[in-house]
Amino acid sequence: MPKIITQIADMQQYKKSLKSNDQMGFIPTMGALHAGHLSLIKESVAENEQTVVSIFVNPIQFGVNEDFTKYPRNIEKDIEILKGLKVDVVFAPQNEDIYPENFLSFVNVNKISNMYCGKVRKGHFKGVATIVLKMLNIAQADKLYLGEKDYQQIIIIEKMLADLNLNIKVVRCPIIREADGLAMSSRNMYLNKTERKNATCLYKSLLVAKDSYSKGVQSISRVKTQMVDVITKSNGIIEYIAFTDKDTLLKEKHLTENTRILLAVKFGNTRLIDNILV
Ligand code: PAJ
Repeated sequence: MPKIITQIADMQQYKKSLKSNDQMGFIPTMGALHAGHLSLIKESVAENEQTVVSIFVNPIQFGVNEDFTKYPRNIEKDIEILKGLKVDVVFAPQNEDIYPENFLSFVNVNKISNMYCGKVRKGHFKGVATIVLKMLNIAQADKLYLGEKDYQQIIIIEKMLADLNLNIKVVRCPIIREADGLAMSSRNMYLNKTERKNATCLYKSLLVAKDSYSKGVQSISRVKTQMVDVITKSNGIIEYIAFTDKDTLLKEKHLTENTRILLAVKFGNTRLIDNILV
């Protein structure tokens, strides 16, 4: 049974009570846990003496017209799921403790936070970077486990840690998918039956791109046309398809072994993301 900590001071005290050479793995989440989250948690449990999972729906990473209020919250169920996993601590702080009225400080990782998802979700990555840095400062973790499902988020957090000289190792974990290929996400539950069926087109389109590259196609416009075709046939509304360098996230001119394709597609009001290394 994990220890449930809701107060920042108690989390700090817990860390102080540990043996100095106990490694702590930290998995930040917004709850509504699924197998994607659990894969990160299991990896941390296997690699560290201590594993801390945070559950906090971070208001400042949601835009005004986004789903902050309807984002799924079920902490009792989450704790139930975590019981079987040898997690040491669930850190679930309150909004007003994380962001008291006089809160003024934010972390902005320039440039890469304004591209792709950040172009549409203005301020989103500023909110993400700020909460992740706060969580790491509170828990004083040694390793941070992040999922490649949110690839831009990983690159931004790694840049923040490097730029601000934080001595924390990031462990990147692969994307966990449903049997039909849809990347697991807490937001998949917003999809109706038809949308859920059509949503497999994100991964299908990425596989089409990967397949073309493996057959020698290097033209981005050609591969993009193939992807657009797959997605529009499934009634997905494309927000962006980006062909990026996997390390810098800058746009590439043609496909190479370093190309990471990122995409965001909407079904009704539900926005889904996915990515692949070609
Ligand atoms: P959340 O969407 O809850 O995701 C928490 C972590 O789980 C992230 O690192 C995310 O990439 C990972 N994850 C989610 N679905 C996954 C999947 N299908 N396969 C592998 N990993 C997956 O991302 C956030 O929360 C927030 O932005 C957060 C970092 C907690 C800051 O508030």
